[in-house]
Amino acid sequence: MLMSPSEGTVKRPEPSNTGVKPEEQLRKLLESVGHIAEERSVPRLIELIRDMAKAVLIADRCSVWVLDWEYDEFYTVASEGVDKVRIPSQSGLLGLALAQGKPILIADAATDARFDPASDKRTGYRTRSVMVMPFQDKDGEPLGCFQVTNKLSAGGVFNEADLELLGLVASYAGKALEAAMLDYEAEHTQRELILKLGEVCESRSKDTGQHVRRVAEYSYVLAKQIGMPLADAELLKTVSPMHDVGKVSIPDSILNKPGKLSDEDFALMKLHTDVGHDIFKNSKGRVMSSAAVVAWQHHEKWNGQGYPRGIAGEQIHIFARITAVADVFDALASERVYKRAWDIDKVVKLFEEERGKHFDPKLVDALMACLPEILEIREQLNDPPGFF
Ligand code: C2E
Ligand code: SIN
Ligand code: SIN
Ligand code: FE
Repeated sequence: MLMSPSEGTVKRPEPSNTGVKPEEQLRKLLESVGHIAEERSVPRLIELIRDMAKAVLIADRCSVWVLDWEYDEFYTVASEGVDKVRIPSQSGLLGLALAQGKPILIADAATDARFDPASDKRTGYRTRSVMVMPFQDKDGEPLGCFQVTNKLSAGGVFNEADLELLGLVASYAGKALEAAMLDYEAEHTQRELILKLGEVCESRSKDTGQHVRRVAEYSYVLAKQIGMPLADAELLKTVSPMHDVGKVSIPDSILNKPGKLSDEDFALMKLHTDVGHDIFKNSKGRVMSSAAVVAWQHHEKWNGQGYPRGIAGEQIHIFARITAVADVFDALASERVYKRAWDIDKVVKLFEEERGKHFDPKLVDALMACLPEILEIREQLNDPPGFF
């Protein structure tokens, strides 16, 4: 049994589609090609591709079915946020096209034995003409199928020219979908890996406790406060808690030393920035390269007096400048093995003094502007009593 996502609602052909001017159609097509090239979300991409195919083929219905090898199923999304519709990968015309590795053109469903009228009976939709077109990844492995139903012109019948056009759409769509699916995979894996790393680090240092979580939240609030796009703010939230992973190279005797560090120990401690950079720098992808930059630059100062390189101002990546504010704010406002927690007034005073010296002035302003929100997070994510 085949289900199309819009099944249940009987959709009538929209005759307005048939009267579209060619130049209008071309403009729409070029526009959607542009959107498809930029889209990174798989469900939204499926929608865009479906709409493009409908417009190009002047079809009443189009579904894009993607193969899920793990479950031997096809799935599609009717629209974003709506649950996936799933069907077994052997069923109906889709299964046939997949098995043959070839497209199917049914000009007249009423007289073609390959078309099973059962679902039309159930839904009240009348299928006159259907095309199914498999599409592949760049290695020729099947990725899914297009299913296009009822032409809105030419008496409702698809012909070989339509099938050829659908083939072009499908080969373009296959490439776009493959890229988005790989991106999604890679990013998901990277986020997982980063969370694991965070857990490993926290279990070793007596200092951290809820520190990494608070730094993540503070960074996010600060990023939004300066108007950073949400997707970037979320990326920063993922990577900012990783700024100290390089401390894995620091011996416990230094990391958890109760008193002041000797010059020699502090020299070693400073290496955690380069070590963190080394851990991430050879991995590709947005997440890993952002984590590398934050680990490397979070102890640089606006005036160039920081470490490891002494870069200044906007040479320091905005992610690292924000993480520096979040990190120091939390270090001062919390107890450490080597220091007591400071009163908030004293913390605020230090940030005012260091505005334009240690810290980017606009980030100190942002911190002051959202201080109530920051303090609320601190309240919620406080260290358990008697932590030390
Ligand atoms: P951390 O404890 O996470 O501190 C991060 C940053 O917060 C410090 O970077 C510094 O900029 C700021 N900060 C922390 N405590 C104070 C403070 O009492 N006064 C002022 N003015 N700033 C403070 P920094 O200095 O580069 O230190 C990097 C890391 O080195 C620290 O991370 C900590 O793990 C270690 N460390 C620094 N000083 C000491 C120390 O005296 N004793 C021990 N055991 N570790 C230290
Ligand atoms: C449907 O659209 O649900 C039926 C068409 C087909 O069997 O491929
Ligand atoms: C962290 O991941 O921020 C903590 C690293 C450490 O202190 O070992
Ligand atoms: Fe650090």
